[in-house]
Amino acid sequence: MHSGSLQALWVGAGGTVMLHPQLSVHFLKLFFLNIAQFLNIVRTLPGPAKKMTSMSLLYEFTKMALVPYDGQVLSGLKRFHNSSTTYTFSNHTIRIKQDWKELGVAAVVWDAAVVLCMYLEAGGVNLQGRSVIELGAGTGLVGIVAALLGGDVTVTDRDMAMEFLKSNVYDNLPKELEHRMSVKPLNWGVGLENYSPFDVILGADIIYLEETFQDLLKTLIHLSSEHTVILLSCRLRYQRDHNFLDMMRKHFTVDQVHYDKNLDVYIFKAWKRLREEF
Ligand SMILES: C[S@@+](CC[C@H](N)C(=O)[O-])C[C@H]1O[C@@H](n2cnc3c(N)ncnc32)[C@H](O)[C@@H]1O
Repeated sequence: MHSGSLQALWVGAGGTVMLHPQLSVHFLKLFFLNIAQFLNIVRTLPGPAKKMTSMSLLYEFTKMALVPYDGQVLSGLKRFHNSSTTYTFSNHTIRIKQDWKELGVAAVVWDAAVVLCMYLEAGGVNLQGRSVIELGAGTGLVGIVAALLGGDVTVTDRDMAMEFLKSNVYDNLPKELEHRMSVKPLNWGVGLENYSPFDVILGADIIYLEETFQDLLKTLIHLSSEHTVILLSCRLRYQRDHNFLDMMRKHFTVDQVHYDKNLDVYIFKAWKRLREEF
């Protein structure tokens, strides 16, 4: 059975399923064999694939919502195993190191980051001389491009991602721009008193973990004044991603400003709502 019919099967069951390629056939067997056997198969997968597959299955089964499956996910998985990936933005070649095995989601470039870089390069928002913060920067690609486009950029992520992030940022940033860049830890919702509002807030593929939504929203509110422009690029994979946008709409005006059909990535632009709009 090829992946198209797999998808159709699960759409019919009220959702769709994403599986590691080695598991797509085995997943069907789950319904004919027992769960223990399925878990044995999962155990034979390499570390990250095992973690991702078992976590998404367990999480989605407990919530009775299945993980979206599409061909891009599978090709994305292969791409994540490359130790580096190269882009050209703002007339600069940017070579990003990746380390999916050690650091997972924070150490690979997501399509949302590439689409946001294209949007910025096309002049989607003026960054020249503006203070910019990137949240959940991962490899830092978006922050690097924002600095190349003239922003004074603070690139942030969780503590565990710092070393890798710094190395990617400073390996790629021209020396003469280093004074306009800083790389700092920012765990959403934590230590926000160390940060003041920025002109521009950027985030690529950071709407994905429901348990972080309140803290992410709190962070966006804290980092914005009524002049701040927020750009969030994302693939809308689950209903909960839409729910986050609804949570944002209580505090911000949120507009879809771009959709990349090939990569299935949206960009939303948001501004803090003025008191009288409430
Ligand atoms: C899917 S990755 C996207 C990485 C990068 N923006 C990109 O698009 O290539 C999500 C990022 O959010 C970061 N992240 C997740 N939870 C976070 C939290 N509570 N505080 C700060 N960053 C977080 C992860 O470390 C990771 O770098």
